Amino acid sequence: MAREHVRVEVQARRALVTIDRPDKLNALSEQTILELEEVFSEIARDPNVGVAILTGGGTRAFVAGADIAELARMTPVSARRTARAGQRLTNAIEGSGKPVIAAISGFCLGGGLELALACAVRVAHPRCSLGAPEVKLGIIPGFGGTQRLARLVGRGKALEMILAGEPIDGVEAHRVGLVDRLVAPAELPPDKVQAAQVLRDAVLGDAEKLARTILARAPLAVAMSLDAVHTGLEMPLREALEHEAVLFGLAASTADFAEGMAAFLAKREAAFKGA
Ligand code: COA
Repeated sequence: MAREHVRVEVQARRALVTIDRPDKLNALSEQTILELEEVFSEIARDPNVGVAILTGGGTRAFVAGADIAELARMTPVSARRTARAGQRLTNAIEGSGKPVIAAISGFCLGGGLELALACAVRVAHPRCSLGAPEVKLGIIPGFGGTQRLARLVGRGKALEMILAGEPIDGVEAHRVGLVDRLVAPAELPPDKVQAAQVLRDAVLGDAEKLARTILARAPLAVAMSLDAVHTGLEMPLREALEHEAVLFGLAASTADFAEGMAAFLAKREAAFKGA
């Protein structure tokens, strides 16, 4: 598929995925959703990618939601299809087997918030605006938001955000655990556009730093950790703990386990091979 709204750059085992439709604040059209789903299924299969960063093009938004011009034309049948397509995408991100880091700058609303929720880690700055404004449009979050937001920040905060539809800033999002890493540059230029660029660069820089840290770890152990957390959270505790123990055993069968232990005991850096 020729891609119109999504750019991917792979460098040093890190894929930078940019949703690039800045004139519409990177709103998720049907086409954009399909392109993203294709990108993340490729990332899942690509042995040259260890970590992905998901971000928005331009300086104003991560993603300002699903494309309202398209939503306005929905019928009940096509609306269900739209929700399913969005859920396939968020499942593809969460289930890619690779850590996906959301680098959030500016507006992160509706479907944009739902994309961010499917990522392993969220990085943002204080001036971001994160929210679930769907009820203002007579709809509900349909790309997994009702479930993933409640699981991440708890039922009360999720319901407050979803029922009132009011956004929160990056500071509040960090406080409630919706944003994992808050990046606040000490000085910002007075000009709003320039400040937005500095903030975006700072968030991307921090996401890159986290990506490099994760890439230095044992790749199979990273993948198993993701599996233990994501799969485990959907299981009763007893089964999830058994799943964790099985993965722990599997990790001990890898060459990287032997290398990690030997490197620690020899007081040297480990050289992991992903085997
Ligand atoms: N879908 C489609 N287009 C969108 C969009 C969306 N979710 N969000 C923004 N856009 C478009 C605007 O229509 C506008 O396009 P135009 O220049 O062709 O008119 C462009 O992006 C810029 O947005 P604009 O509204 O002019 O910017 P603003 O700074 O005044 O306001 C927001 C920014 C984010 C507050 C506002 O765009 C907004 O409320 N967007 C919708 C958010 C939402 O409800 N998302 C959930 C959808 S389920």
